[in-house]
Amino acid sequence: MNSNSLSRRHFLQASGTAAIWAPSSVMAYTSAEMQAFYASGEMSVNVSKWELDTPALCVDLDLLEANLDKMAQTMSSNGIASRPHAKTHKTPIIAQMQMDRGSVGICTAKVSEAEAMFQNGIDRILNTTGNVTPTKINRAMDLRALCPGFIQATDAPENARLLSAAAVAKGLVADVVVDVDPGIRRTGIPFGQPALQLAQLVDQLPGLRLMGMLCYDAAAQHVVGFETRKAQTLERMTAATDTFELMQASGLNTEIFSGGGTGTYNIDHGTRGMTDVQVGSYVFMDAQYIGIGGETDREVYSDFHTSLTIMATVLNAQHAGRATSDAGAKACTINQPWPIIKGESGMHYRSGSDEFGTIIYEDDPSRNYKVGDKLELIVSHCDPVVNLYDQMYAIRNDRVEAVWPISARGMSA
Ligand SMILES: Cc1ncc(COP(=O)(O)O)c(C=O)c1O
Repeated sequence: MNSNSLSRRHFLQASGTAAIWAPSSVMAYTSAEMQAFYASGEMSVNVSKWELDTPALCVDLDLLEANLDKMAQTMSSNGIASRPHAKTHKTPIIAQMQMDRGSVGICTAKVSEAEAMFQNGIDRILNTTGNVTPTKINRAMDLRALCPGFIQATDAPENARLLSAAAVAKGLVADVVVDVDPGIRRTGIPFGQPALQLAQLVDQLPGLRLMGMLCYDAAAQHVVGFETRKAQTLERMTAATDTFELMQASGLNTEIFSGGGTGTYNIDHGTRGMTDVQVGSYVFMDAQYIGIGGETDREVYSDFHTSLTIMATVLNAQHAGRATSDAGAKACTINQPWPIIKGESGMHYRSGSDEFGTIIYEDDPSRNYKVGDKLELIVSHCDPVVNLYDQMYAIRNDRVEAVWPISARGMSA
């Protein structure tokens, strides 16, 4: 945590962008008004992000596009594909931007998330979480019936049999990957023979077609220090490669070996056999990722920009050394490290209270916030923050350019 706060301070000093305080008299456009402007093509109303009713979730388009471009370029020079995880943004418009930059498909975490993506035009989807109840297995197979580009993960023989039976009942042969545990014992079947035998079973079941495997090392992504992260990732993924090669040697279909994330995106091409990287957070970044350090900038993970922010308003400034905002846990979550006030140093933000955020000045007791002042917060952890909002404002040069529905928001089942 110590090195994290050091890194965050460094980041704040390096970020250089001053916070802007809009006068408390500015209009606060509500989400309903903004949606109506956007639907009627009236975005010429030229609304600044500082004029939005708050809390408001904003994505900076220049920064988002730079992140998407950087990932696409890195993948292309490293000779590996991306299959970005849509659990981060839950927003079909962003999924389409990723596909337009050459991603081979997207990943989803839940069948409901996959349905929302498909209903909004995304038709190459790998659902990385297994479905174990009859309800979800049927939903996944119903989606497969509509979407030939849908692939489902499985990590147990009994689950594979249930998937196959549901597929056969619907007259389908469904594409499946075997989820292999990288050693963190969360999801997935153990490496080696158990994984191979599951792959062989999938290959033989009448309702399934084996596509390969996935192996996502969640524990590797936030390892602090690039060299440590790289060494740990490559070492742990050796067993995944061995398993993949066992499948190949058995003559199984091994089109897909998917894994990796934002913390290892420039390491994963070193894992022999890996075909694509399931990067998620790189689109937005967050306070959790900033502190892990990158290959060139060892202290701050500055490979990607922090494009996602929350606009907040000061509600109370009567007490020395602190102020209260309208963005608490219901706007920011209670994930830590806490949100960072963009462009500000010498102060801390805490969002532990349901409706209220607390701004505590450390080095600058003269800081003089007024009721109605606006703040911009870099999010603590992007995925759960996005899931709190129905839409995000797409911002360019501080102006709202579009209002994007977060169509898979709340799709946690
Ligand atoms: C299975 C899987 N793949 C990929 C990702 C994306 O990881 P990141 O946001 O670190 O890029 C996640 C995130 O939790 C995940 O659960």
